Amino acid sequence: MAQENNMEKVISLAKRRGFIYQGSEIYGGLAGTWDYGPLGVALKNNLKTLWWQMFVEEREDMYGVDAAILMNQNVWKASGHVGGFSDPLVECSKCHHRFRADHLTDLKKCPDCGGALGDVRQFNMMFKTHVGAAEDEGAVSYLRPETAQGMFVNFKNIIDSFHPTLPFGLAQIGKAFRNEIAPRDFLFRAREFEQMEIEYFVRPNDWERFFEEFRQLMWQWVERIGLRRDRVYELEVSAEDRAHYSKRTIDFEFEYPFGRKELYGLAYRTDYDLGAHQKGSGASLEYFDEATKEKFVPHVIEPSLGVDRTVLAILTDAYTEDELGGEPRSFLKLSPAIAPVTVAVFPLLKNKPPLVEKAREVYALLREAKKTAGGRARIAFDDNGNIGKRYRRQDEIGTPWCVTIDFQTLEDETVTLRDRDSGNQERLKISELSGRLLG
Ligand code: GAP
Repeated sequence: MAQENNMEKVISLAKRRGFIYQGSEIYGGLAGTWDYGPLGVALKNNLKTLWWQMFVEEREDMYGVDAAILMNQNVWKASGHVGGFSDPLVECSKCHHRFRADHLTDLKKCPDCGGALGDVRQFNMMFKTHVGAAEDEGAVSYLRPETAQGMFVNFKNIIDSFHPTLPFGLAQIGKAFRNEIAPRDFLFRAREFEQMEIEYFVRPNDWERFFEEFRQLMWQWVERIGLRRDRVYELEVSAEDRAHYSKRTIDFEFEYPFGRKELYGLAYRTDYDLGAHQKGSGASLEYFDEATKEKFVPHVIEPSLGVDRTVLAILTDAYTEDELGGEPRSFLKLSPAIAPVTVAVFPLLKNKPPLVEKAREVYALLREAKKTAGGRARIAFDDNGNIGKRYRRQDEIGTPWCVTIDFQTLEDETVTLRDRDSGNQERLKISELSGRLLG
């Protein structure tokens, strides 16, 4: 049975099994930061690779970039972030705890100590820093709060290098930083996180068509990573709740254990950003249409996906408890497309050299077959603890299949293949494995 409120269990599993740790943990942590361990990195990399494949490599109209996180401060002045990227803040006059005003029902009384709350003021969420030795105003820079601006400022470079015709997009995966007033809910609201974003440039009259196209593609993405469709909802964001640059936004919300909240956003950013950077930098960011001989600033459709919120949605969606062989078990029902380990190979017993050697041979064979097939399956060797413990460990990290080499293998070249979800085992020939698991 799937657990409705499994947050604490997921956080504990993520730590125990090496997916995600609290940032700077041995020093008491740093709020809003998380460190990914080996399995978390593998899961995150699988998601990012899949996204890059689907939105960049499998298309002809997408240009990948990896822009610097630190940018000229004028980028953030022009984009509107210096003036407007803020959340409403209130501070308690007694305990000095700070809260997001829009998260409180009573704006007079401190929810922690009952003290009087001060006036609401705007708190800019960008992390400010200084570049170089000088600490004056001219040296100010910011850690980017979205990857998007790194693409807008490279629009002209891509036009000059590749001469693309509209519509086309720039795509980027990278870190973003926001000094959230109240980081919370594990990976959901962090101060350092990753985004996968596209700025898709279109003719002004075409925006509705491409907004719709990306809306459908986002649903395809949800299916491709194995999130249950019925846990994802669209929310048409009202004009007063939209970001300053957007004329239409749909939030893709997910049913997290702590409630239905934003997973991704799809926005129509009009020509706001290119127009602002054209004005701010003095560079022409117009597109010249060879066919009509027109010059204009293209409009933008932006699908914006948080990597960490995807990881959180996937972990809470995949976490399952059931009973197997009369024993309770918990496991991650991850899709093979993203599971950190796709196939784990075991010798039945660790202290029987012929079994270990044969298991190593099967492991090497699968790794070789994977290379030849060009597939992305991840194969692991595991001989730690007894076989029951290994199955339990692989179930907990979401490994879809386990292959066990036993005494019969030495006689007839067959192995057992165990399916994670049902726990069922079947016997098949070693020669059949790669076709079944890596296809
Ligand atoms: N470029 C558009 C943009 O940044 P956003 O709605 O502010 O729009 C996009 O952020 C996505 O980034 C969100 O849908 C979410 O997945 C992720 N995100 C935003 N703030 C986050 C935070 N504090 N912690 C984790 N992920 C966050």
